[in-house]
Amino acid sequence: AQAPVNVTVTGAAGQIGYALLFRVASGQLLGPDTPVKLRLLEIPQAVKAAEGTAMELDDCAFPLLKGIDITDDANKAFDGTNIALLVGARPRGKGMERGDLLQANGGIFKPQGEAINAGAADDIRVLVVGNPANTNALIAQQHAPDVPADRFTAMTRLDHNRAIAQVAAKLQVPVTDIKKITIWGNHSATQYPDLFHAEVDGKIAAEQVDGEWLRETFIPTVAKRGAAIIEARGASSAASAASAAVDHVYTWVNGTPEGDWTSAAVVSDGSYGVPEGLISSFPVTSRGGRYEIVQGLEIDEFSRARIDASVAELAEERDTVRQLGLI
Ligand code: NAI
Repeated sequence: AQAPVNVTVTGAAGQIGYALLFRVASGQLLGPDTPVKLRLLEIPQAVKAAEGTAMELDDCAFPLLKGIDITDDANKAFDGTNIALLVGARPRGKGMERGDLLQANGGIFKPQGEAINAGAADDIRVLVVGNPANTNALIAQQHAPDVPADRFTAMTRLDHNRAIAQVAAKLQVPVTDIKKITIWGNHSATQYPDLFHAEVDGKIAAEQVDGEWLRETFIPTVAKRGAAIIEARGASSAASAASAAVDHVYTWVNGTPEGDWTSAAVVSDGSYGVPEGLISSFPVTSRGGRYEIVQGLEIDEFSRARIDASVAELAEERDTVRQLGLI
């Protein structure tokens, strides 16, 4: 039998954690043949709530779940871990400036990066979900110099899935007809969901919809979907975020299907004019357990301006965390 894979989830007592843990334990993260051990990292005040979730995980009697450890110590949480899902983050409080937010999150993602560097397994893969996800991932990555940079990613798969859902609804086609959607840039309102390379049943998606819908409805709907969910649900996206996190890791480990790609924020190698080192969303394929940026796409002026705007925001966030001494 295969040895269990250690999966660490931070912010385990939060709302995404509650939706995510059961899917990991049921085998959806890694597949039906892979047993898992869970490590839950929480802040001291939330350890008890995480223990309650662990009781429920026990009560599911999941055949693949081989153990649950709960801790408030990052070094213990990441020791020997293979997959780290960094969900816990500091939300933006009332009157908080972006610098304050980055500062507060630096206090979380710097020590977590250090703990990953010190103790994680050699095959560690990191997905940052907690916002601002791209820059939190950059902070953690910069404090893990012994881990290959391509093991650090941030989540734009929810945006990717939202874009698929919008196009499918607009064209009244199954979601499975839609391929090669790309989210470029930052997981924020500046993100650029690209239909010029996407395909619907083999035809370019941007040519199947009118330009006004693409510009005035599609792009803002995808970019502001998080706010619309809060408005409707009275709480931020949780189950859909957890589902996207499962998709992100599953694809990373098991590969993208032939003739398709996905979106993930990965460390830039300078592709598409995105400054090297920024953790920015790209079209990516996964082969042999590695995400690689899809090369050679032609970017027209419309797309160029939008990618540049989102990437400029990422560069500003990086400059801020540099000034704050966080990287
Ligand atoms: P939540 O507030 O319900 O849960 C967050 C949990 O993290 C809390 O239990 C808190 O105690 C814990 N936490 C805080 N600091 C921690 C630390 N240093 N170590 C371990 N745990 C810590 O929030 P929710 O709804 O679960 O969302 C989590 C994050 O995911 C937020 O930052 C949210 O903005 C982000 N998010 C990202 C999305 C994406 O597409 N990338 C989509 C939706 C949410």
